[in-house]
Amino acid sequence: MTEWQNKISANDDNYTHNINTNNERQLDRRGFMKTMAGAAGLFAVSSLPWGAIAAKELMGLSDKEYPHHKIAELKDVSVGSSIDFHFPTEHDSAIMIRLKEDKFVAYQNACTHLRCPVYWIKEEKEMVCPCHHGKFDPTNGTPTAGPPRRPLPEIALKVKEGAIYAVRVKRYEA
Ligand code: FES
Repeated sequence: MTEWQNKISANDDNYTHNINTNNERQLDRRGFMKTMAGAAGLFAVSSLPWGAIAAKELMGLSDKEYPHHKIAELKDVSVGSSIDFHFPTEHDSAIMIRLKEDKFVAYQNACTHLRCPVYWIKEEKEMVCPCHHGKFDPTNGTPTAGPPRRPLPEIALKVKEGAIYAVRVKRYEA
């Protein structure tokens, strides 16, 4: 190697001397941040409806319709009496009460305190939880005595061809 070749400065001796590396890095960082912001925005927008639906489900604010379940023939339920059934699954115990000739109500009957079964006491016209003396208003499922603070989930009913069906679970609003 000749002497003059050794004197070429490092700046002249490569093909990247015209690149401002700091700016390049800034552009890279800016581009990356833009990409990330775009991806985050896209994710937020695309997941919004699902997030809202999931939140609604988790908070129990939605009414759920299930395959209709026949509870009983109307003629088999006298006024003032109740019938136990399961809805929407065989693991969800429920109770239907015929309060008047034309008024039926139904609730999932796991107490909203600690899930003991709630009973209908015909003579006292009350829904009672024996575990800690909780009571619920049979007309709307709201707690009226004892430790429960939340209403019993109401089951929507439908009368069809002389029989009564459970169709939906109405969720309480927190
Ligand atoms: S479980 Fe019903 S009152 Fe406690």
